[in-house]
Amino acid sequence: MWKLLLVKLWMSLATISMGYVTFTNLNCSSYNLDYLSFPTCQIKAVNRTHKYINIHAKIYKFPIAESWIKVKFRRFDNGYKVFFPDLSYDGCKFMKKQDNIIAQMFYRTFQRSSNMNHTCPYNHDIIVDKLFTGNLEKEFVRFIPIPNGAYALYTEWSINSVLRASVKFYVKISEY
Ligand SMILES: *[C@@H]1O[C@H](CO)[C@@H](O)[C@H](O)[C@H]1NC(C)=O
Ligand SMILES: *[C@@H]1O[C@H](CO)[C@@H](O)[C@H](O)[C@H]1NC(C)=O
Ligand SMILES: *[C@@H]1O[C@H](CO)[C@@H](O)[C@H](O)[C@H]1NC(C)=O
Repeated sequence: MWKLLLVKLWMSLATISMGYVTFTNLNCSSYNLDYLSFPTCQIKAVNRTHKYINIHAKIYKFPIAESWIKVKFRRFDNGYKVFFPDLSYDGCKFMKKQDNIIAQMFYRTFQRSSNMNHTCPYNHDIIVDKLFTGNLEKEFVRFIPIPNGAYALYTEWSINSVLRASVKFYVKISEY
């Protein structure tokens, strides 16, 4: 039920949300370094307003045939507080059907910057290369109508039914 409401809310507010998004911090962590590690997890600045991130998740055991992704939204207000329900997706199922509108919008923000762009199984490391906030300005802010401020997106990655990694994106939304 809330999913339906959300989609409607996003649709109706899509046109009035004009915030500018920029990465402020990034935290990649592995729950088991024998399974997965992050040789790269960085934010690079092109100039004052444009930053991009690079992530390389090195995986030591293949294939990845099943995955769950959990996304938690936080807004900074005396600490990072919940402001939006958590979302959870079957990653492999999504890549096959791409039938979830919310996941689809997320996926579109990094689709072109990542080698995740095919169906399971994955037999390679996962790389996000030069994901610009510019991409997010178009998608992310468009579908999440949110006031200016500091936000965090916590993502939890389970692979073959075991929680393997956490990647936290910290962003600031402002009027340029
Ligand atoms: C990064 O995230 C991990 C896992 O949630 C946490 O244990 C760690 O303290 C965080 N590191 C920083 C610098 O925030
Ligand atoms: C920052 O770099 C981006 C990407 O190259 C460019 O589009 C933008 O105009 C630059 N902004 C400033 C203030 O120089
Ligand atoms: C996935 O992305 C890579 C690198 O950008 C590209 O070479 C490849 O053709 C893409 N594959 C699909 C199925 O879109």
